[in-house]
Amino acid sequence: MSNQQPRALWASRLGFILAAAGSAVGLGNIWKFPYITGLNGGGAFVLVYLVCIALVGLPIMMAELMIGRHTRRDAVGAFIQLEGRRSFWLSAGWVSVGAAFIILSYYSVVAGWTLDYVYRALIGSFSGQPTEVVEGLFSGLIADGPRQIAWHLLFIVLCLSIVIGGVQKGIERWSKILMPLLFALLLLLFVNGMLSDGARQGLAFMFRPDFAKLTPGSVLEALGHAFFTLSLGMAAMITYGSYLSRQENLFAAGLRVALLDTGIALMAGLAIFPVVFAVGLEPASGPGLIFKTIPVVFSQLPGGYLLAILFFLLLSFAALTSAISLLEAQVAYLIDERGWGRPKATGFLAGLAFVVGIPTALSYNSLGDWHLIGERSFFDSVDLIASNYLLPIAGLLIALYVGWFWKGTEEKEELMAGGAGWTYPAWHFLIRYVAPLAVAVILYYKMEETGV
Ligand code: PFF
Ligand code: NA
Repeated sequence: MSNQQPRALWASRLGFILAAAGSAVGLGNIWKFPYITGLNGGGAFVLVYLVCIALVGLPIMMAELMIGRHTRRDAVGAFIQLEGRRSFWLSAGWVSVGAAFIILSYYSVVAGWTLDYVYRALIGSFSGQPTEVVEGLFSGLIADGPRQIAWHLLFIVLCLSIVIGGVQKGIERWSKILMPLLFALLLLLFVNGMLSDGARQGLAFMFRPDFAKLTPGSVLEALGHAFFTLSLGMAAMITYGSYLSRQENLFAAGLRVALLDTGIALMAGLAIFPVVFAVGLEPASGPGLIFKTIPVVFSQLPGGYLLAILFFLLLSFAALTSAISLLEAQVAYLIDERGWGRPKATGFLAGLAFVVGIPTALSYNSLGDWHLIGERSFFDSVDLIASNYLLPIAGLLIALYVGWFWKGTEEKEELMAGGAGWTYPAWHFLIRYVAPLAVAVILYYKMEETGV
């Protein structure tokens, strides 16, 4: 290893849990999970999603944390260390870090939208306005390149200023501030949802399974989302695991992070659907659910001015703690493998993410006619490459490596040391057979679907 100082570690178990949960809990939970649940008919989809988290997501999360902690290196270096040389498995590290790079560039643009909405909520752009005006704000934002670039820049600067502080003084400290705030905000909005007139309908929508609404496509969507939501295949969990003390029980730690992520996604659904039903709107409005439907809901509810501010703040905090893990996963590579200092690595990568995010911000305005893959805009193309290909490829390689090719067994057995006797065999079965097969199936269908 080329760096001179001893490698950083998390200061406490709680610090790790909050940082890793911060990575996991993001736009995926609060923006994407509710809208795909809406599109896929509710209850039955939620059930399938929970099964995917338990059988595929959780075992791969543990595999990533294990790789990180065992090697104490970034995702690329980890595979050099494991094999004692540069081998084919290095590609798993490269694909992961590459995915983190691509995803950060556009995640930050979407996060910029949430900042814009915090601002709009503060200046009262939603309250008392007619539906068309509130809904029109989103198309207005998407059509405005410079405005999106400005918020994207601000968001990247926020990430940079946290990651530059390092593992304990930057990421851990801010996770300990932002995650409790996020939780408090969500709790408030959840209680608000449960007290609203739409509570019964909201609960029924999320928890009454109607299997007639379930298509093979929904199952794939659930499986793909299980990956994204747990921050898998993007080097984040390998990197965060690499700062974890050897004393920690990996099984318990990974389980807590996954439970927090799942609990928060469910709570977000229960904060959102009841109020959507209460004002008689559609739960199946797709990606616009958060940026169009929710502002309309808040424009009509009593107390909506304050609720809107809280909601978009919640979304911004969630996005921020996720984005810093994407940045840290890349920064760790430059520090561990290239011997860069943290400030230089962070500045360089944040700058690069900003530049690569610009065409994303221009995708639906100045660059509207530019199609990268098929008929897709730049934004849709980079999202396609990262979520449909890089994540499942990285996940498949990691599951295969850990399940079949990792020679040392100490870490794997240690992983389950704190769990009951059946946990190791259960995990081993899932990582060897179930996870690789499931991921290979997603990959196959995604390729079919996009015709690449
Ligand atoms: N898990 C995050 C979410 O659900 O929004 C997204 C994400 C963050 C994915 C960080 C990957 C990652 F490394
Ligand atoms: Na998530």
